[in-house]
Amino acid sequence: MKILVTGGAGFIGSHTVVELQEAGYDVVVLDNLCNSSMKSLERVEKITGKKVPFYRADILDRAALDRIFEAEKADAVIHFAGLKAVGESVEKPWEYYENNIAGTLTLVDVMKKHGVKNIIFSSSATVYGNPAFIPITEECPKGQCTNPYGWTKSMLEQILSDIQKADSEWNVILLRYFNPIGAHKSGTIGENPSGIPNNLMPYITQVAVGKRERLGVFGNDYDTHDGTGVRDYIHVVDLARGHVKALDKIKENAGLKIYNLGTGVGYSVLDLVKNFEEATGVQIPYDIKPRRAGDIATCYADAQKAREELGWEAQYGIKEMCEDSWRWQKNNPNGYEE
Ligand code: NAD
Ligand code: UD1
Repeated sequence: MKILVTGGAGFIGSHTVVELQEAGYDVVVLDNLCNSSMKSLERVEKITGKKVPFYRADILDRAALDRIFEAEKADAVIHFAGLKAVGESVEKPWEYYENNIAGTLTLVDVMKKHGVKNIIFSSSATVYGNPAFIPITEECPKGQCTNPYGWTKSMLEQILSDIQKADSEWNVILLRYFNPIGAHKSGTIGENPSGIPNNLMPYITQVAVGKRERLGVFGNDYDTHDGTGVRDYIHVVDLARGHVKALDKIKENAGLKIYNLGTGVGYSVLDLVKNFEEATGVQIPYDIKPRRAGDIATCYADAQKAREELGWEAQYGIKEMCEDSWRWQKNNPNGYEE
C-alpha cells in the first residue's frame, strides 16, 4: 500500500515516515519546506535504510498535485501539511485560512479526481476549546478556539466530515493530537522550531543547551495541583505509530472516525521541568510570568477509544520523552542547520 505524506519533512511527518517504512508501507513525501528541511528526510533514510521519494510542492498548487497523483498512484494520504504557529495565526489570519483550508480543499479535490478517497488528518485537542469536561473523550463538544490556527483545525474537521457524509466511499480519520514532544531514539530527527519556541518542551531544551537563559512559566494561579497549566504530553514516536494503526481502519473502510491521540496523563509545567531535570541532570532556571492569552488550565485525553478501536496505546512515559527531546537538542543545538 502506498501512502502519500503531505508535510512529511516536518516534525511529526518525519517521525511518521520512519514508522510507516518500518511497518512495510511504500511512502512518498510532498512538502513545500516552508517550515522544514530536506535534512530531516535524509536522516530518515539513514534510520530506515530506505529511500524516501520526495516532491517539493505546495498543497495549493493544483497542477503539481495532479502530476504527483498521476505518477504515484497512492492509496491513501496522511495529511500533515499546514501552518501551526498559534501567535502568527493571530497576526496573519488570511495566510492561515488560505494555506490550511484552501490547501486542504485543493488536495482533497485532486484526490477525488484520482479516485483516492482515504485521508488521515492531523487535528488537535485545540478543537475542544476550553474543554467541557476532563479527561476529554471524543464526545466532548467542540469549543470556541482562541486563534485562527485552531479554527482551521475545527473547520477542516467539519469540511472533511461533510465530504465523507456526502460520499460514503471516503474514509476520513481525524486524529486529535494532544501535546507531542520527544524525538526519535537515534537523536537525528526532532522538532526544529524557527525563532523563539512557542511550545514548552523546545523552550526547555533550548534553555538546557544554553540558547535561552531562563524559562518563563506562564501563570501559577490556575486551578491545578501546583497552579501551572496541565497538559497531556505524548511521545512523537507513539503519535507516529497511531497513524500506522489508523491505516488499518482505512483498510476496513471505516468511514468517518475520530480519535484522541494522547496518553491520558496530565503533567503541569513544573512537573515537566522537574522530570526534565531528573531525566537529564540539567537544571532549568525559571521565572513565573503572567498567564499567556488564550491558555487553558487543564487539557488531557481519555485515550480509551483509540486503545479499543485502533489497538493503539502510548508506550513511552515522561522520562523517555524528556531524555529523547534532550538527546535531539544536545546533538543538534541548531536543529537541522549546521
Ligand atoms: P511542522 O511545521 O514541523 O510540519 C508541517 C509541514 O508542512 C512542514 O514541513 C511544512 O513545510 C509543510 N507545509 C506547510 N504548508 C504547506 C503547504 N502549503 N504545502 C506543502 N507543505 C506545507 O509541524 P508538525 O508539528 O509536524 O505538525 C504537523 C501537523 O500536525 C500540522 O498540521 C499541525 O497543525 C498538526 N498538529 C501539530 C501539533 C504540534 O504540537 N506539533 C499539535 C496538533 C496538531
Ligand atoms: C499550544 C497551542 C495549541 C497547539 C499546541 C501544539 C496556544 C494557546 N495553544 O498548546 O493550539 O495545538 O500548542 O502543541 O498556544 N508554557 C510556559 N512557558 C513557555 C511555553 C509554554 O509556561 O515558554 C506553558 C503553557 O502556558 C501551557 C504549557 O506550558 O500551560 C504547554 O504549552 P504549549 O507547549 O505552548 O502547548 P499548549 O498551550 O497546550
